[in-house]
Amino acid sequence: MSRRVPITPQNVSAPLTSSATFLVLRIIHPYSPSSADTIRSTISSVADLSKNVAIRDLSASFSCTVGIGSNAWSALLPRTPKPAELHPFREIKGRVHTAVSTPGDLLFHIRSERRDLNFEFEKQLLDLLGDEVEVADDTEGFRYFDVRDLLGFVDGTANPVGEEVNEAVLITRDESATGQDVRAEAEVGGSYIVVQKYVHDMKRWSSLPTEMQEAIIGRRKWDNVELDDADEGKQAAHKTLTTVEDADGNEYGILRDNMPFGSPGRGEFGTYFIGYSARLWVIERMLERMFIGNPPGLHDRLLDYSTPLTGCVFFAPSASFLASLGKD
Ligand code: HEM
Repeated sequence: MSRRVPITPQNVSAPLTSSATFLVLRIIHPYSPSSADTIRSTISSVADLSKNVAIRDLSASFSCTVGIGSNAWSALLPRTPKPAELHPFREIKGRVHTAVSTPGDLLFHIRSERRDLNFEFEKQLLDLLGDEVEVADDTEGFRYFDVRDLLGFVDGTANPVGEEVNEAVLITRDESATGQDVRAEAEVGGSYIVVQKYVHDMKRWSSLPTEMQEAIIGRRKWDNVELDDADEGKQAAHKTLTTVEDADGNEYGILRDNMPFGSPGRGEFGTYFIGYSARLWVIERMLERMFIGNPPGLHDRLLDYSTPLTGCVFFAPSASFLASLGKD
């Protein structure tokens, strides 16, 4: 029997906040031992660094989730088996739209009710990482009215709640028929994360009649009521294409914490998509259904108005595992 140690997950299901920073970093010399030491020690101290900032306003629900990319895992943790599904983002080329794959070794999903707390944390974090990393992307998200995206729709409604959250998001110990633990210690209590930074063509989107926008999303814009699915084989709405079932008809939810970002002055209007799941294949299946279409050719019409500029996969190990890296 394997040894049972208490596992504390990272706070992946932190409540939706009004501000978030999505920081994606590249490690400059991933195989340099001193660089790997600095990075392991910094990410192992994220819980302490978070306390440092969170205490300054306990009502602001500060949290930071750390994700490690596949190549970074090989470099930083060569003796620790990689989580079973962890691999770099696989580009998906549909007939019209492509889900691009872009570089990213580390993700910090920094959330709170206060932009200044997120800013301060990011500053202290980057000070610790010093010259070992470069910023691949740094996006500042904000809440837009009643949790709407910039397309005007309430975003996040179908997220799992209560007990469903952990089931959807956290990898549990998986017992084989012989009672042997088949999950590597590093995987338990962890989650896969997929991020994509989308920019919208607001001019064209705004020129669509509301009924057409609603048919694309699959919900009414004003009151968020879900619309009926289109008939089998016909153009499906976004909410239908992102509903994923296995061969036995079991549906798999994911946890999304999308945030608007952008600047009217720069003509930039975007949605930062972030999805957490215990099963990477579920998010990948959603992406295939969006970009290739179901049936193939009938892609998600949301993509005619939304272009992904990035695409990365990370693994967020448990907080216990992260903390142990400092002792390596
Ligand atoms: C549902 C917006 C990208 C997965 C929705 C809804 C909106 C929305 C408004 C309906 C309300 C809700 O349940 O949240 C967007 C926008 C995106 C985007 C603006 C980017 C431009 C994605 C991507 C995925 C995804 C890339 C997955 C890979 C889902 C899921 C649902 C959903 C799972 C719930 C479906 C259900 O009703 O069961 N999205 N989304 N979305 N979206 Fe997206």
